[in-house]
Amino acid sequence: MTSAEEAVRTRDLVKWYPKRDRPAVDGLTFSVARGEIFGLLGPNGAGKTTTIGVLTTRVVPTEGEVSVGGVDLLRDGAEARRRLAVVSQHNNLDRGLTIHQNLLMHGLYHGLSRTERRRRAGGLLEEMGLADRAGAKVGQLSGGQQQRVKIARALMHEPSVLFVDEPSTGLDPQSRLFVYDKLTALHAHGVTVVITTHDMEEAARLCDRVGIMDHGRLIALDTPKSLTASLPGGTAVDLAVDGDAARVRVLAAALGAEPGVSAVESGQDDPPGRLTLHTTADPTPLLARVLHVIGEHGCEVRDVGVRRPSLEDVFIRLTGRGIR
Ligand SMILES: Nc1ncnc2c1ncn2[C@@H]1O[C@H](COP(=O)(O)OP(=O)(O)O)[C@@H](O)[C@H]1O
Ligand SMILES: [Mg+2]
Repeated sequence: MTSAEEAVRTRDLVKWYPKRDRPAVDGLTFSVARGEIFGLLGPNGAGKTTTIGVLTTRVVPTEGEVSVGGVDLLRDGAEARRRLAVVSQHNNLDRGLTIHQNLLMHGLYHGLSRTERRRRAGGLLEEMGLADRAGAKVGQLSGGQQQRVKIARALMHEPSVLFVDEPSTGLDPQSRLFVYDKLTALHAHGVTVVITTHDMEEAARLCDRVGIMDHGRLIALDTPKSLTASLPGGTAVDLAVDGDAARVRVLAAALGAEPGVSAVESGQDDPPGRLTLHTTADPTPLLARVLHVIGEHGCEVRDVGVRRPSLEDVFIRLTGRGIR
């Protein structure tokens, strides 16, 4: 990617918070192309919100370079703030104001004329399905509606890069779909969208590319498809078996030696009887074999599931831990 194509760029970004024994962000380097939907995926505490904080000038980095829309954030924060917007993980709407006033205030802050503020606020409330709630106070809205107001507010100054921290955490499934539709539509209109999430399905569904973070570092970066294709096998078989730990260990090794099984994973913090097999073979005949081998090892099957491998499998493969 040339710098003209980069909407977001970080180089060797480090953030230490005072009195912490390790950095929250620990040498992060990545670029987001213009018009891309990019996801920062990782468990709680991975450093996602801190990264978004730095990229939106709200957190001062300890070291490293950051630019948004080609503007160096550390040199010209004001110009960068004109080009970007952020939908925070927390509800930071002004509860004393109506929905409409929340949007107008944001427009005022960004120096829009009174006519322009009214025009944009009206249009955005319409687009977000909130036109009939314009006069309502924040507290009268559902969580899903409040999230939509936050997105509408962020769009008041027509940013070219939108950061959304955990777009759907705490939302009901219907509101979640609405938010996904809006983010996809913005993307279709050429806005660069950067989301953070700990939800692998969300990342796989929305993002062109995903950076997987752990302990402040990027441990993988690619399209969701390439990340899951990097796993050994096209199908994942989840097993829950009963048996003591030693038996399950021997069983895991035996399953790993079965023809067609390319890998056997068990997450470090998973309960002992949970195994995931990765296979390129047709899972139906393989399952019969697997059940037989489990029986031979004196273990009992409690649950079996066959699925496509997910970003969660990628995370477990890279870290040995589950993401949640
Ligand atoms: N304001 C802060 N002061 C001190 N430590 C913080 C602060 N914000 C975050 N941290 C710590 O930094 C690490 C990364 O946090 P965060 O960026 O919120 O991760 P994520 O969004 O991936 O959950 C965590 O260990 C968290 O406790
Ligand atoms: Mg966070």
